[in-house]
Amino acid sequence: MRILMTYNLPGNVAEYIRSHGFEVDILDEKVNLCDVSEELAQTYDGLICLLSEVIDKKLLDKFRNLKGIAVYAVGYNNIDIRSCTELGIPVVNTPDVLTDATADIAITLILMAMRRINEAQNYLRAGKFDGWKPDLLLGRDLKGKILGILGMGRIGKAVAKRAEAFGMKIIYNTKSGVKPELPWPYVSFETLLKESDVLSIHTPLTDLTRHLLTKKELLQMKKGSILINTARGPIVDESALVEVLKEGHLSAAGLDVYEEEPKIHPELLKLENVILLPHIGSATIETRTKMAYIVANSIIQVLLGEKPTNTVNSEVYKTERWKNLWKNNI
Ligand code: GLV
Ligand code: GLV
Repeated sequence: MRILMTYNLPGNVAEYIRSHGFEVDILDEKVNLCDVSEELAQTYDGLICLLSEVIDKKLLDKFRNLKGIAVYAVGYNNIDIRSCTELGIPVVNTPDVLTDATADIAITLILMAMRRINEAQNYLRAGKFDGWKPDLLLGRDLKGKILGILGMGRIGKAVAKRAEAFGMKIIYNTKSGVKPELPWPYVSFETLLKESDVLSIHTPLTDLTRHLLTKKELLQMKKGSILINTARGPIVDESALVEVLKEGHLSAAGLDVYEEEPKIHPELLKLENVILLPHIGSATIETRTKMAYIVANSIIQVLLGEKPTNTVNSEVYKTERWKNLWKNNI
């Protein structure tokens, strides 16, 4: 069986997959997945893709013999999951392993925003530092401030635990309405907006969370508060965010994700009180290597007709299409 990997992932996993008896092609970096010829596309049984690649109905039609897709990410909003399920294609992702790395980046952004690190470093690098001053670049303490967490999954919880160690008080809301049994108070979405000194987003991007924060919600946030987004850009209306930052309603923001990644709103680039990172939430050597082996092992399992636990559309295993596929192939 043949697998197309759209990027040469860390850790030499292509060789690892080959050692399990599969053929692996790595897409040339200059070629877009959607530009692969129909003839070639049909030869693939498995696909390992990135979060930046759109896997829609059209692409699935072209890659019509796919029996499994592995995405090198925890988020899978780039994939038309419903169509995959209808076609009997299991989709696997990389949950758990990137939780700590991503939570660390959220905390980094909170600290940078609260302590004005971006402004401070720019000030020094511009040669303006001419001695210690009692009122130079005063930020704010984390201790005693309220951290509102939107989306209390694995990453949200890991951020809450870290923030608690800094003395922050935690409140949270989940858009799915699920209220896990947790040591922190669940509040309404409105209360979360109104009471948080720092609001950190940790929900997946779905129809329910797209543009969850428009100008209206951003203005409901506490005056002078801070927004942190390490989840997905389109959860926030980026133009509205620029407006509330320029108007001074929010005092700062920390972003790792963008509405039209990799494009960045030009006004964001001008704002010194906004920390901008290039989507590096899970970017550590350890985590990215583990993620590579998870996608490798999971695609192997899927192409052997097994059911890995990190399948995001596990209902696929109940479909006639999947059962028929494996009746014919095993
Ligand atoms: C990163 O954004 C991921 O979803 O893994
Ligand atoms: C959210 O991204 C989670 O992993 O729970």
